[in-house]
Amino acid sequence: MSEKEIEIADAKGKLGVLLIGLGAVSTTFIAGVEAIKKGLGEPIGSLTQMGTVRLGKRTEKRIPKIADFVPLAGIDDLVFAAWDIFEEDAYAAAINSGVLETSLLEQVRGELEAIRPMKAVFHPRDVKRLHGTHLKEEKTKWDLAQKLVEDIQHFQKEKDIDRMVMIFCGSTEVFIRETETHQSLEKLEAGLKSNDENIPSSMVYAYAALHLGIPFANGAPNLTVDVPAFTQLAELKRVPVCGKDFKTGQTLMKTILAPGLKARLLGLSGWFSTNILGNRDGEVLDDPGSFKTKEESKLSVLEHILQPDVYPDLYSDFYHKVRINYYPPRRDNKEGWDNIDLFGWLGYPMQLKINFLCRDSILAAPLVLDLVLFLDLAKRAGMGGIQEWLSFYFKSPMTLPELYPEHDLFIQLMKLKNTLRYMRGEEQITHLGLDYYQ
Ligand SMILES: NC(=O)c1ccc[n+]([C@@H]2O[C@H](COP(=O)([O-])OP(=O)(O)OC[C@H]3O[C@@H](n4cnc5c(N)ncnc54)[C@H](O)[C@@H]3O)[C@@H](O)[C@H]2O)c1
Repeated sequence: MSEKEIEIADAKGKLGVLLIGLGAVSTTFIAGVEAIKKGLGEPIGSLTQMGTVRLGKRTEKRIPKIADFVPLAGIDDLVFAAWDIFEEDAYAAAINSGVLETSLLEQVRGELEAIRPMKAVFHPRDVKRLHGTHLKEEKTKWDLAQKLVEDIQHFQKEKDIDRMVMIFCGSTEVFIRETETHQSLEKLEAGLKSNDENIPSSMVYAYAALHLGIPFANGAPNLTVDVPAFTQLAELKRVPVCGKDFKTGQTLMKTILAPGLKARLLGLSGWFSTNILGNRDGEVLDDPGSFKTKEESKLSVLEHILQPDVYPDLYSDFYHKVRINYYPPRRDNKEGWDNIDLFGWLGYPMQLKINFLCRDSILAAPLVLDLVLFLDLAKRAGMGGIQEWLSFYFKSPMTLPELYPEHDLFIQLMKLKNTLRYMRGEEQITHLGLDYYQ
C-alpha cells in the first residue's frame, strides 16, 4: 500500500553552492562537476548521479535511477562560490592540490579561474598550522557573520541564484568541547557579539548560513553545527543540517568491514589503523589539536557498530588505535594500513590486513555533490533540522543527543533510500519477503 507523498517544491532556477575552503576536496568537486558537464568524465561514486532505488516487490522490477525518482537539481544548474584564507583561484588551488591531472584541469580552466575565493573568517587559534592572508577584519564574530551574509546576498544577486547550500570543506579545527555558549541560540548570539573564544570560525559561517535559511553540511570533524544552539536555529528556520566529517578512505572501509565481522559473530581483539598522507589536510592534522578532533571522529565508529555492551564476549576488550602521519611525497594519494586481530570458533585467533592506496579527494568529491543535491531536496521537501538519513556520508553522523548514531554503511544506505521512498509516498522496504512464498 502506498503512503502519502510529501510535497516537494520544484527544483527551478540555479542552485548556489557555497564552499568554505577552496582546497583539495572543493576543487576536485568543482573541476569534476565542470568536467562532467562537458562530458569529460563520469560521476563515479555519486549516488544521486548513478544510484538506483528499488520500489515495491522484487517481481515488479521497478528500479528507477534516484535522479529520476526524486526531483533533484541538475548539475548544469550548479553555480559555485567559495571562501578561503588564501587568494588563489580555483584553478591555481586545484593545480596546487595535485589531485587531478593538468590535462583535465586545462579543459575546465576558464570555469575554475572564474571562481576567486572571498575573504575568509579565520582565527589562527582554530587551525595552528595555517597562516592565512586573505581574511576579513571585522572586530567581532557577530560583525564577521554579517559580512558573510553580505557576501552570500551579493553572490545570489550577481549570479541570479534561486536557492543555496553551504558545505564546510575547510581545514580541521582544533578540538573543542561543547560549552555553555553552545547550549542555546541566545547564548551563541551573545557569544558572537562578545567574541567568545568557544566559537571557532566554522560556527560563524554556519550561523550566517542557517540565519539565511541555507542548508549546511559539515565535511570536517569540527563541532560546528553539532551543538544545541545550532539544532535550535535549524529547527526554528526549518533548515536541513548534517555532518560531521566525510566518510572516505580508511573509515569507509571500517564501516564496510566491521558490520560483516559482527554479522558472522567474529570477535575482535585489536584494530590498528595507520595512514600516510601529504596534502594540506595532512599538514593540518600534524598539529595535535587538529588531530585530536579527527581522532575522536575516527575512533567512535567501531564502538557503535560492534556494540560491546550487547556482545561483551566478542567486543568488550578490543584495542583500537588510529594514527595519521604527515608524509609530503604522497600528497593527496593517501596510503592506509589496517591490521585487524580477530578470533573465531573456540577463540582461535586470525589476522586480516588491509592496504588501501586511495585518493582522498577522489573519494570525497562525489559525496560533496550528493550532499549538495540531497540537502537542497530536503529543504524543498520542508525537512528542517538534523538530517539523519544523510549519515551515510559521515564518519560522525549527527543525531539528537538522546540517540546514538548509526555507523553501519548498509543500514545508513537503507535509511537513505527509505527516506527517498517516504518522500515519494512509496512503501518502505523491510526485506521480509515472506509474502512471495505464501
Ligand atoms: N577524503 C577527504 O579528503 C576528506 C575526508 C573527510 C574529511 N575531510 C575534511 O575535509 C576538509 C577539506 O579537506 P581538503 O583535503 O580539501 O583540505 P585542504 O587543506 O586541501 O583544503 C582546506 C582549505 O580550507 C582553507 N581554510 C582553512 N580554514 C578556513 C576558513 N576558516 N575559512 C575558509 N577557508 C579555510 C584552507 O586554506 C584550504 O585551502 C578537511 O577538514 C578534511 O579533514 C576530507
